[in-house]
Amino acid sequence: MSSDNSSSGFAPLNWISKRTRSAYHCKISCDDACFKPVPNQSGNEPFAAILNRRISRRSLVRATIAGAPLLALSTSPLGSQIFGSAPLTSRADAASSTVGLQSIPHDNEDAINISDGYSSNVVIRWGDGVIPGAPDFSLSCQTAEAARKQLGFNCDYNGFFPLLPGQSQRGLLGINHEYTSPVDMFPDYDADNVTSEQAAIEIASHGMSIVEVSRADNGSWSYNPSSSHNFRITGETRMMLTGPGAGSIHTITQADPTGAEVLGMLNNCAGGRTPWGTILTAEENFNQYFANAGTAGAVARYGLPELASRRHWEDFYDRFDVSREPNEPNRFGYLVEIDPYDPSFTPRKHTAMGRFKHEAATVTLSDDGRAVVYSGDDERFDYVYKFISNDRYNIFSRSANLDLLSSGTLYVAKFNDDGTGEWLPLAAGTPPLHAWTNAQIATFTKLAADEVGATPMDRPEDIEVNPINHRVYIALTNNTRRGTEGYDPVDSANPRGPNTHGHILELTENGGDAAARRFTWDIFILCGDPSDAEQETYFAGFDKSELDSISAPDNLAIDANGNLWISTDGQPSKLGQADAIYVVPTAGPERGRIRRFMTGVPAGEMAGPEFTPDFATLFVSVQHPGESGGLDEPTSTWPDGDFPRPSVVAAYKDDGGVVGT
Ligand code: FEO
Ligand code: CA
Ligand code: CA
Repeated sequence: MSSDNSSSGFAPLNWISKRTRSAYHCKISCDDACFKPVPNQSGNEPFAAILNRRISRRSLVRATIAGAPLLALSTSPLGSQIFGSAPLTSRADAASSTVGLQSIPHDNEDAINISDGYSSNVVIRWGDGVIPGAPDFSLSCQTAEAARKQLGFNCDYNGFFPLLPGQSQRGLLGINHEYTSPVDMFPDYDADNVTSEQAAIEIASHGMSIVEVSRADNGSWSYNPSSSHNFRITGETRMMLTGPGAGSIHTITQADPTGAEVLGMLNNCAGGRTPWGTILTAEENFNQYFANAGTAGAVARYGLPELASRRHWEDFYDRFDVSREPNEPNRFGYLVEIDPYDPSFTPRKHTAMGRFKHEAATVTLSDDGRAVVYSGDDERFDYVYKFISNDRYNIFSRSANLDLLSSGTLYVAKFNDDGTGEWLPLAAGTPPLHAWTNAQIATFTKLAADEVGATPMDRPEDIEVNPINHRVYIALTNNTRRGTEGYDPVDSANPRGPNTHGHILELTENGGDAAARRFTWDIFILCGDPSDAEQETYFAGFDKSELDSISAPDNLAIDANGNLWISTDGQPSKLGQADAIYVVPTAGPERGRIRRFMTGVPAGEMAGPEFTPDFATLFVSVQHPGESGGLDEPTSTWPDGDFPRPSVVAAYKDDGGVVGT
């Protein structure tokens, strides 16, 4: 297919005939929404053989990477001033990283527990006022008008932005609102009789909140409900598409003949900060909001519901009904750039970075100053991506940098069995994408990546670049279908089948340059319960007898010493324990020694770990406490003892020191 003159039923290269469709299921974790070819199941190697190929070298040679120049947040206020200097490109060597905190036991308490010597407090809760003058939250009297001014539901990513250069006591917190759980929001919710007001409240409860936060002398944090910096982005906020997918035949709708103006963002999960001080936030499971997509063309690969959606928004909004607006889903599933310092900035959905179930939007700079963005497609057997901008970061012009992510080349990862790998370009005219246009690649990225031979992974979640050792850490949360009948077999990069507990890969770009086309990789951690002899686990070679359990790694953060912080999403069902925050050194004699820092509440994911620039505070989202328990007899009443409220907490050391030391 060489032009954009096709309809939204675009089905390049008859991919659908090669794939098997599983039953659609709206579970937000996307466990049951994946579509993959039926693989050859005959060649599964024994786990030990596969694993040993990839861990022996790193187990023998314990990298000693070192101490800690931090991400240089730059030196002047508000946006252009604050983010005026070049960050992230240092090549400092490092000493052994260490972690000073005590690991805490797992639990199932309806409370946040934290390591000795630390405290935490709730900063902001679902329904708290964001826009000055917002009405007080009322569980029984919710309105869409109020919700547009209040903190949305199910906080996930957090991004901290100083209000003054290097400031760590006060700043703006950008908080994603990934999705809504109406049964946990509305006391009278009836899934068969959704009201228009409930649908409007749900749409208003998506998106993002920007709130001013500050630290008190005792280390605790609060937000300022009267701050003029505060604003909301919802599922209705006007946004623009940029890049090759903008204004194409695939993005034009009846309501928007330009094909470049979109209302809202949906299912924003992980995210990241750009060097120029904007937020990049990832639209993940956007498919679930649409209805009546049928099964033809690309819609099945993207998991769009064949018939009604679970939320029934299509009953009130034509744009969510694919039979009426067939291109509307093509306007979701992007990385979205937002300026936290400027409420008037129109958010930009950058199509050049592809359309898929984005999780992670991790930005760094290449050696020659181009922007490099890592992102994963959180679906079973989907891919890890990297985008490289055409233009270079401009130290003198923040406004110029706002266009950086609009044009560049998107790559997808192929992990070879021998521990090498390559980034395969997704570019029109580049074999085997001879017949594709860049608009098609930008809009139907999953299908383009299928064509080039990317490696199907075990649900890529967050990705972080370690500024100390320059390695890239990739959380693969789990894949219970890996190696089972009808699905892809295990491989070196995804060595367990079924992969119940997930794993973390450590990728090294050739030459340490983020723009490299080739890389090497190792398995860093194979999660699970190391005390269970039946489970195959691995912790970078560290003695497992000293370690506790971990499952379903999701979001990642790196601290001042290059230690990896991990939040989990799925331990209640996988290990029978609350989700938690862990920390693990990436270097030195304790490389692989995982410690549990903080535990969440029943049925609540821990998400969005984010340090302040001084690393003395760690913000964490407690997402979906008591999820699906309903409001009659909730399985969690955190944080206030009445009904569950997704909230952001701040964790800090009682002596005011750096977290983790
Ligand atoms: Fe929204 Fe992939 O977690
Ligand atoms: Ca996530
Ligand atoms: Ca998740």
